[in-house]
Amino acid sequence: MNRPRHIAIIMDGNGRWATKRGMQRIRGHERGAEVVREITTYCANHPEVEVLTLYAFSTENWKRPKMEVDFLMKLLDRWLAKELETYQKQNVRFEVIGDISKFSPKLQDRIKKTKELTKDNTRLTQVLALNYGGRDEIVRACKKACAAGVEIDEENFEAFLDANLGDVDMMIRTGGDQRISNFLLWRAAYAELFFTKTLWPDFMPTELESMIEEFKKRERRFGAV
Ligand code: IPE
Ligand code: IPE
Ligand code: MG
Repeated sequence: MNRPRHIAIIMDGNGRWATKRGMQRIRGHERGAEVVREITTYCANHPEVEVLTLYAFSTENWKRPKMEVDFLMKLLDRWLAKELETYQKQNVRFEVIGDISKFSPKLQDRIKKTKELTKDNTRLTQVLALNYGGRDEIVRACKKACAAGVEIDEENFEAFLDANLGDVDMMIRTGGDQRISNFLLWRAAYAELFFTKTLWPDFMPTELESMIEEFKKRERRFGAV
Protein backbone atom coordinates (compact mmCIF):
# COMPACT_ATOMS: atom_id res chain seq x y z
CA MET A 1 0.00 0.00 0.00
CA ASN A 2 1.11 3.57 -0.70
CA ARG A 3 2.68 5.44 2.15
CA PRO A 4 1.84 9.15 2.59
CA ARG A 5 5.39 10.09 3.66
CA HIS A 6 5.29 13.63 2.28
CA ILE A 7 2.02 15.58 2.15
CA ALA A 8 1.95 19.04 0.56
CA ILE A 9 -1.02 21.37 0.87
CA ILE A 10 -2.01 24.50 -1.05
CA MET A 11 -4.02 26.19 1.70
CA ASP A 12 -6.44 28.17 -0.44
CA GLY A 13 -9.78 29.85 0.30
CA ASN A 14 -9.10 31.98 3.38
CA GLY A 15 -10.28 35.19 1.72
CA ARG A 16 -13.51 33.68 0.39
CA TRP A 17 -14.23 32.08 3.77
CA ALA A 18 -14.14 35.52 5.42
CA THR A 19 -15.94 37.39 2.62
CA LYS A 20 -18.80 34.88 2.76
CA ARG A 21 -19.24 35.81 6.41
CA GLY A 22 -19.14 39.54 5.75
CA MET A 23 -15.73 39.81 7.35
CA GLN A 24 -12.44 41.24 6.09
CA ARG A 25 -10.21 38.78 4.18
CA ILE A 26 -7.59 38.94 6.92
CA ARG A 27 -9.98 37.26 9.37
CA GLY A 28 -9.85 34.25 7.08
CA HIS A 29 -6.07 34.16 7.36
CA GLU A 30 -6.37 34.25 11.15
CA ARG A 31 -8.76 31.32 11.18
CA GLY A 32 -6.57 29.55 8.60
CA ALA A 33 -3.61 29.74 10.97
CA GLU A 34 -5.60 27.82 13.60
CA VAL A 35 -6.28 25.10 11.03
CA VAL A 36 -2.54 24.82 10.37
CA ARG A 37 -2.12 23.81 13.99
CA GLU A 38 -4.91 21.21 13.84
CA ILE A 39 -3.62 19.61 10.64
CA THR A 40 -0.03 19.64 11.88
CA THR A 41 -1.09 17.93 15.10
CA TYR A 42 -2.95 15.29 13.10
CA CYS A 43 0.11 14.64 10.91
CA ALA A 44 2.47 14.54 13.89
CA ASN A 45 0.34 11.76 15.33
CA HIS A 46 0.08 9.84 12.06
CA PRO A 47 2.51 6.92 11.96
CA GLU A 48 3.34 7.27 8.25
CA VAL A 49 3.54 11.01 7.63
CA GLU A 50 7.07 12.43 7.93
CA VAL A 51 6.88 15.74 6.09
CA LEU A 52 4.02 18.24 5.84
CA THR A 53 4.71 21.12 3.46
CA LEU A 54 2.27 24.04 3.58
CA TYR A 55 2.03 26.82 1.00
CA ALA A 56 1.67 29.96 3.08
CA PHE A 57 2.90 32.79 0.83
CA SER A 58 3.84 32.60 -2.85
CA THR A 59 6.25 34.72 -4.86
CA GLU A 60 3.11 35.99 -6.62
CA ASN A 61 1.26 36.97 -3.42
CA TRP A 62 3.19 40.29 -3.23
CA LYS A 63 0.68 41.48 -5.86
CA ARG A 64 -2.02 41.67 -3.15
CA PRO A 65 -3.02 44.93 -1.47
CA LYS A 66 -0.27 46.21 0.83
CA MET A 67 -2.60 46.03 3.82
CA GLU A 68 -3.17 42.29 3.29
CA VAL A 69 0.54 41.57 2.71
CA ASP A 70 1.51 43.55 5.83
CA PHE A 71 -1.10 41.69 7.85
CA LEU A 72 0.17 38.30 6.65
CA MET A 73 3.75 39.20 7.65
CA LYS A 74 2.63 40.28 11.11
CA LEU A 75 0.44 37.21 11.51
CA LEU A 76 3.35 34.95 10.61
CA ASP A 77 5.64 36.59 13.15
CA ARG A 78 3.03 36.41 15.91
CA TRP A 79 2.08 32.89 14.99
CA LEU A 80 5.64 31.54 15.01
CA ALA A 81 6.26 33.10 18.41
CA LYS A 82 3.15 31.40 19.76
CA GLU A 83 3.63 28.09 17.96
CA LEU A 84 7.10 27.40 19.32
CA GLU A 85 5.46 25.79 22.32
CA THR A 86 3.34 23.53 20.06
CA TYR A 87 6.38 22.50 18.01
CA GLN A 88 8.24 21.47 21.14
CA LYS A 89 5.26 19.73 22.71
CA GLN A 90 4.48 17.77 19.55
CA ASN A 91 8.15 17.09 18.75
CA VAL A 92 7.80 18.88 15.39
CA ARG A 93 10.78 20.25 13.48
CA PHE A 94 10.13 23.55 11.70
CA GLU A 95 11.62 24.06 8.25
CA VAL A 96 11.17 26.74 5.62
CA ILE A 97 11.46 26.87 1.82
CA GLY A 98 11.34 30.03 -0.27
CA ASP A 99 13.40 33.20 -0.44
CA ILE A 100 13.01 34.75 2.98
CA SER A 101 15.63 37.44 2.28
CA LYS A 102 12.74 39.66 1.11
CA PHE A 103 11.20 39.65 4.61
CA SER A 104 11.93 42.14 7.39
CA PRO A 105 15.05 41.40 9.47
CA LYS A 106 12.80 40.80 12.49
CA LEU A 107 10.74 38.16 10.70
CA GLN A 108 13.84 36.53 9.20
CA ASP A 109 15.28 36.35 12.68
CA ARG A 110 12.11 34.74 14.05
CA ILE A 111 12.15 32.14 11.25
CA LYS A 112 15.82 31.28 11.81
CA LYS A 113 15.37 31.03 15.58
CA THR A 114 12.34 28.75 15.26
CA LYS A 115 14.31 26.50 12.92
CA GLU A 116 17.28 26.40 15.25
CA LEU A 117 15.23 25.71 18.40
CA THR A 118 13.28 22.84 16.81
CA LYS A 119 16.04 21.26 14.74
CA ASP A 120 16.34 18.13 16.89
CA ASN A 121 12.62 17.32 16.92
CA THR A 122 11.88 14.07 15.17
CA ARG A 123 8.19 13.27 14.95
CA LEU A 124 7.28 15.40 11.93
CA THR A 125 8.89 18.07 9.79
CA GLN A 126 6.50 20.91 9.15
CA VAL A 127 7.68 23.01 6.22
CA LEU A 128 6.26 26.45 5.56
CA ALA A 129 6.64 27.69 1.99
CA LEU A 130 7.27 31.41 2.43
CA ASN A 131 7.85 33.77 -0.47
CA TYR A 132 7.98 30.48 -2.30
CA GLY A 133 7.76 29.82 -6.02
CA GLY A 134 8.63 26.51 -7.65
CA ARG A 135 10.34 28.24 -10.56
CA ASP A 136 12.22 30.60 -8.27
CA GLU A 137 13.49 27.68 -6.17
CA ILE A 138 14.67 25.78 -9.26
CA VAL A 139 16.44 28.83 -10.70
CA ARG A 140 18.15 29.57 -7.37
CA ALA A 141 19.19 25.90 -7.11
CA CYS A 142 20.76 26.03 -10.59
CA LYS A 143 22.65 29.18 -9.64
CA LYS A 144 23.96 27.54 -6.44
CA ALA A 145 25.12 24.50 -8.39
CA CYS A 146 26.80 26.72 -11.00
CA ALA A 147 28.56 28.74 -8.33
CA ALA A 148 29.80 25.52 -6.71
CA GLY A 149 30.97 24.26 -10.10
CA VAL A 150 28.77 21.16 -9.84
CA GLU A 151 27.30 19.57 -12.92
CA ILE A 152 23.69 18.86 -11.99
CA ASP A 153 21.73 15.72 -12.76
CA GLU A 154 18.40 14.31 -11.56
CA GLU A 155 20.07 12.58 -8.61
CA ASN A 156 22.10 15.43 -7.13
CA PHE A 157 19.69 18.28 -7.93
CA GLU A 158 17.58 18.14 -4.77
CA ALA A 159 20.66 18.93 -2.68
CA PHE A 160 20.62 22.44 -4.20
CA LEU A 161 16.95 23.07 -3.49
CA ASP A 162 15.97 25.00 -0.35
CA ALA A 163 15.60 21.88 1.81
CA ASN A 164 15.98 18.16 1.38
CA LEU A 165 12.40 16.96 1.73
CA GLY A 166 12.10 14.20 -0.83
CA ASP A 167 9.36 13.70 -3.38
CA VAL A 168 5.78 14.72 -2.61
CA ASP A 169 3.40 11.76 -2.28
CA MET A 170 0.11 13.67 -1.94
CA MET A 171 -0.53 17.21 -3.12
CA ILE A 172 -3.79 18.66 -1.83
CA ARG A 173 -5.46 21.94 -2.79
CA THR A 174 -8.40 23.31 -0.85
CA GLY A 175 -10.67 26.11 -2.05
CA GLY A 176 -12.07 24.55 -5.21
CA ASP A 177 -9.50 25.57 -7.83
CA GLN A 178 -7.63 22.88 -9.69
CA ARG A 179 -4.14 24.20 -10.30
CA ILE A 180 -0.63 23.99 -8.84
CA SER A 181 0.06 27.77 -8.64
CA ASN A 182 3.84 27.33 -8.85
CA PHE A 183 4.11 25.02 -5.81
CA LEU A 184 6.89 22.39 -5.47
CA LEU A 185 7.38 21.91 -9.21
CA TRP A 186 10.43 19.67 -8.89
CA ARG A 187 9.30 17.44 -6.01
CA ALA A 188 5.70 16.99 -7.15
CA ALA A 189 6.65 15.32 -10.44
CA TYR A 190 4.79 12.13 -9.45
CA ALA A 191 2.56 13.39 -6.64
CA GLU A 192 -1.01 12.13 -6.42
CA LEU A 193 -3.29 15.17 -6.68
CA PHE A 194 -6.30 15.89 -4.49
CA PHE A 195 -8.69 18.82 -4.92
CA THR A 196 -11.49 19.73 -2.54
CA LYS A 197 -14.04 22.54 -2.58
CA THR A 198 -13.64 22.91 1.19
CA LEU A 199 -12.18 26.33 2.00
CA TRP A 200 -8.97 26.10 4.06
CA PRO A 201 -10.49 27.49 7.30
CA ASP A 202 -13.10 24.69 7.13
CA PHE A 203 -10.62 21.89 6.34
CA MET A 204 -10.59 19.30 9.10
CA PRO A 205 -8.39 16.31 9.97
CA THR A 206 -11.30 13.97 9.12
CA GLU A 207 -11.22 15.14 5.49
CA LEU A 208 -7.46 14.68 5.35
CA GLU A 209 -7.93 11.23 6.81
CA SER A 210 -10.33 10.22 4.04
CA MET A 211 -7.93 11.58 1.40
CA ILE A 212 -5.16 9.45 2.88
CA GLU A 213 -7.48 6.43 2.71
CA GLU A 214 -8.11 7.13 -0.97
CA PHE A 215 -4.41 7.71 -1.61
CA LYS A 216 -3.58 4.29 -0.20
CA LYS A 217 -5.86 2.66 -2.74
CA ARG A 218 -4.57 4.53 -5.79
CA GLU A 219 -2.29 2.73 -8.21
CA ARG A 220 0.98 4.63 -8.58
CA ARG A 221 2.75 3.41 -11.68
CA PHE A 222 5.63 5.89 -12.05
CA GLY A 223 5.66 5.22 -15.76
CA ALA A 224 5.82 1.45 -15.47
CA VAL A 225 3.01 -0.91 -16.42
C1 IPE B 1 -4.80 31.37 0.68
O1 IPE B 1 -6.07 31.93 0.75
C2 IPE B 1 -3.84 32.01 1.64
C3 IPE B 1 -2.79 32.84 0.99
C4 IPE B 1 -2.57 32.93 -0.30
C5 IPE B 1 -1.96 33.61 1.87
P1 IPE B 1 -6.48 33.14 -0.19
O2 IPE B 1 -6.12 34.42 0.49
O3 IPE B 1 -5.88 32.97 -1.54
O4 IPE B 1 -8.04 32.98 -0.24
P2 IPE B 1 -8.97 33.15 -1.50
O5 IPE B 1 -8.45 32.21 -2.56
O6 IPE B 1 -8.88 34.56 -1.93
O7 IPE B 1 -10.32 32.77 -1.02
C1 IPE C 1 -1.77 29.82 -3.79
O1 IPE C 1 -2.97 30.48 -3.60
C2 IPE C 1 -0.74 30.31 -2.81
C3 IPE C 1 -0.99 29.99 -1.41
C4 IPE C 1 -1.91 29.22 -0.96
C5 IPE C 1 -0.03 30.57 -0.49
P1 IPE C 1 -3.37 31.75 -4.47
O2 IPE C 1 -4.74 32.13 -4.04
O3 IPE C 1 -2.32 32.77 -4.38
O4 IPE C 1 -3.34 31.12 -5.95
P2 IPE C 1 -4.04 31.61 -7.29
O5 IPE C 1 -3.69 33.05 -7.46
O6 IPE C 1 -5.52 31.41 -7.12
O7 IPE C 1 -3.47 30.71 -8.32
MG1 MG D 1 -6.54 32.04 -3.26
